[in-house]
Amino acid sequence: MTTHRIGLIPGDGIGPEVLSPARLVLDAVARRHGLTLTYTSYDDWSCERYLREGAMMPDDGIDRLRDRDAILLGAVGHPGVPDHVSLWGLLIPIRRAFRQYVNLRPVRVFEGVDGPVRGARPGEVDLVVVRENTEGEYSEIGGLFNRGLPGETAVQEAVFTRAGVTRVLDYAFALAARRGGRLTSATKSNGIVHTMPFWDRIVAERAAAFPDVPWEREHIDALAAKFVLDPGRFDVVVASNLFGDILSDLAAAVAGSIGIAPAANLNPEREFPSMFEPVHGSAPDIAGRGVANPLGAIRSAAMMLDHLGHPAAARDVTDAVVSVLAGTDVRTPDLGGTATTAEFTDRLLAFL
Ligand code: NAD
Ligand code: IPM
Ligand code: MN
Repeated sequence: MTTHRIGLIPGDGIGPEVLSPARLVLDAVARRHGLTLTYTSYDDWSCERYLREGAMMPDDGIDRLRDRDAILLGAVGHPGVPDHVSLWGLLIPIRRAFRQYVNLRPVRVFEGVDGPVRGARPGEVDLVVVRENTEGEYSEIGGLFNRGLPGETAVQEAVFTRAGVTRVLDYAFALAARRGGRLTSATKSNGIVHTMPFWDRIVAERAAAFPDVPWEREHIDALAAKFVLDPGRFDVVVASNLFGDILSDLAAAVAGSIGIAPAANLNPEREFPSMFEPVHGSAPDIAGRGVANPLGAIRSAAMMLDHLGHPAAARDVTDAVVSVLAGTDVRTPDLGGTATTAEFTDRLLAFL
C-alpha cells in the first residue's frame, strides 16, 4: 500500500471551510485506490497566530514541511493583518524555499456551469496558465522614500533572471508539446523596457528548442481582452508572476467562478514538496457562513494526487466534479445556487 505524508495548512477565512471537503474527497478516493494518506495539519499557521505571537508560522516552519510528500493549503489573509505581512509570512516563503517555480492553473468550462462570457462554452475552453512563481514583479527590492513628505515615493523593482525565466518557459513549452497544443506568452514589451524585452528574447530562444510547438506573443492588455472575447483559442499561456496572477483569476471567472479554480505550486525537479491550493483567497466577505465553493480546493487535491503518481485517482475526482455539475442542480451561491459547502460536498461524494 502506498503511503503519502500530506501537510495541511487550512489558514484563514474560508481556507479551513474548503480544506475539510477536500480532505473528505481525498479520503474517499484513497479508499477506492488503496492509498494511505497521512496528514499533519498546521492548524494555527494563520493570521490569528500572527496577531497572538507576531508570526504566521513558527521559526522552523519551513523545516517542518520539508519532509512532507505534498502540501495542501486553504488560503491566507485576514482583514486585521496587512496582506503583505500575512502572505510574505507564509505563502510566499513556502513557494520560494521549496523552489516551486511553476504555478500551474488549469481552466476549463464545465457542463452545467454558466459563465458570464458568451464564447466560454463547455468543452471549448481547456487552457492552462503557467505562472512564473518565484520572481518577477514579486520582489522585496525597493523601498518607500520621504515618508509623509510631498516627495514621498515608492519604488519596487522587478527581478527576472535568465535561469528563472528559462526554467519556467521550458516547463511551459514541454507542457504544450505534451498537450499537442500551442504556447502563448504574455508580455508587455511595448511599455516595460527592461524586463519584458528580456523575457521575449528568452521565449524566442527556448522556442528554438521546441520546434514542433507553435507559439505566439500577446501583450498582456490585449491578451486580457482576448481571454474574455475568445477564451477557447488558448491552450498553454505562460506569464510572469504578476501577469499570471491576474490572468488566472480572470480565466477562472470566465469559466464561471474563481471558487472553482485549482492551482499547483510545483517544484518540477521534486527536490522539495510541491504545494496545492485553490486560486482564490480567504474571502473574508463570505467566511464563516459555510457557503464557500469547495471545488477550487477539491480540484487542487486532484492535482496533488496526479503529482503523487496517482492519475487514475485524480481522474476519479475530476469525473465526480463533472458528474455533480452536469447531473445535478446543486450549486453554491457563487454559481447561482443555494447549497451550502457541506450540501454540495455531500452530493459530490455520492459520485465517489
Ligand atoms: P478572494 O479570492 O479571497 O475573494 C474574491 C471574491 O471571490 C470575493 O467576493 C469572494 O467571496 C469570492 N470567492 C473567493 N473564493 C470563493 C469560493 N471558494 N467560493 C465562493 N466565492 C469565493 O480575493 P481577495 O478578496 O482579493 O482577498 C481576500 C484575502 O485573501 C486577502 O487577504 C488576500 O491577500 C488573500 N488571498 C490569499 C490567497 C492565498 O492564500 N493563496 C490568494 C488570494 C488572496
Ligand atoms: C495567488 C494570490 C497570491 C499571489 C497573493 C495572495 C500573494 O493572489 O496565489 O494567486 O499573488 O501569488
Ligand atoms: Mn491571485
